[in-house]
Formats: sequence, structure tokens, C-alpha cells
Amino acid sequence: GDVAVLVPAAGAGVRLGPGRPKALRLLAGEPLLVHAVRRLAAAPSVHTIVVAAPVADVEAVRDLLAPVAPVSVVPGGAHRQASVAAALAAVPAGPEIVLVHDAARALTPAELIESVAAAVRAGADAVIPVLPVVDTVKEVDSEERVLGTVDRSALRAVQTPQGFRRAVLAAAHAGAGDPLTDDAGLVEKQGVPVRCVPGSEYALKITRPFDLTLAEHLLAADGV
Ligand code: C5P
Repeated sequence: GDVAVLVPAAGAGVRLGPGRPKALRLLAGEPLLVHAVRRLAAAPSVHTIVVAAPVADVEAVRDLLAPVAPVSVVPGGAHRQASVAAALAAVPAGPEIVLVHDAARALTPAELIESVAAAVRAGADAVIPVLPVVDTVKEVDSEERVLGTVDRSALRAVQTPQGFRRAVLAAAHAGAGDPLTDDAGLVEKQGVPVRCVPGSEYALKITRPFDLTLAEHLLAADGV
């Protein structure tokens, strides 16, 4: 394997309701993070996995993942971007392709991990998995008045893993300003072209209680 994967897993998961940090919420009896790491470890390209855990849970996450796969666990930061930066700093010399993957996308298939890595290997500096947007999308003001309808044919919903040539991601984080919700956004700000590959519906981000229910059904029905 020539790939390191950074897993930001330090979020609280407020939108999922009260309880444990999101990455440690249970899906079919196992934490989301365990599901995510197991699928990463099953991807042949993956050599190194670094998880950014909630500061209070670093030891517990180490114990949790030890039987699943060899991983490094570091304390996360105040926002996602800081957690990714902390994980990136812990990647040893070697891997020249770095993927960033949300723990909340617990059912992401190994095939998607491989296809993102392959696109970077083939020469892209930055690669994101995307899906078409199925709903009509409106722009609104602060009072929920419609300002206009966006042309959805030109829109894509963006997933993880996002893949980068290592030096490109390092430069983007070194020059980062205000926190963004994804890493490709930082790379775009540096003027680096970002390529899209087809995403997977199984890579949904488990954010709200409905998503957790959906993921439980997918696990049971589709054996993902
Ligand atoms: O909040 P959101 O759903 O965008 O979080 C996406 C991912 O970023 C989750 O896997 C979450 O655990 C992670 N995160 C993090 N550190 C934070 C906030 C979020 O690693 N401080």
C-alpha cells in the first residue's frame, strides 16, 4: 500500500442527539468508527491509518481499534480542519497519497477507497467522490425567503474519502485560513484543480437519527 488515510473522528455529533461522540455511537452494536476503519483496512492500497479522536477518548479509541486494524490515534482539534491537521502531522515518511475520510461515513465500501486512491495514483493532485443532487435546490435569505433556484445539473454532493498527493494536502493545510468543511476546499483555494469520481450511496454521512436507522437497514439488507 502507498496510501495513508486520515480519519477525523473528534466531532461531538450534536445533530445525532445527546450521547457519546458521534464516531463512538453504535451501529448494529459497534461504534461507527469501527465500521469505518474495518472498511479502510480492507482496501489493499491502504498502508497507514491515523485517527483523530476526541481528546478525552484517545486511550479508549486506541483500545477499541487495536483488534480491528493497526492504527495511530492522536487527539483531535476544535474543528474538523484542526483534527485533519493533527492526523496529517502524525503520518510517517513513506505514503505519497493521503486520503481524508470521515468516521461518520461508516459504510463506505473499500471499492470507493480504491477508486479515489487510483485517480490520485493516475496523476490527479486532488480527487473527490461525488453524487448528483436529486432535489431541486433554492437559495434563501435569513428569513427563508427564496432568492432563486440553482441549476442542479451543475451541482454535486461531495463525500469522502477525498484523496490528495501528500505535498498538495500539506501545503493546503499549512496555508489554511478559516476552517472549511472539507479538505478539497482548502486545495481549491490554493488554485489546485480538483477532479471528481463517482461516489457511492453507501458512503452517506451518518448525521441525523434517520441516517443511523437507514445505515442499520442497509447493513442488514445489503450485507455491506
Ligand atoms: O460535523 P461533521 O459531520 O461535518 O463532521 C465530519 C467529521 O469530522 C466527523 O467524522 C467528525 O467526527 C469529524 N470532526 C473532527 N473534529 C471536530 C469536528 C468534527 O474530527 N472537532
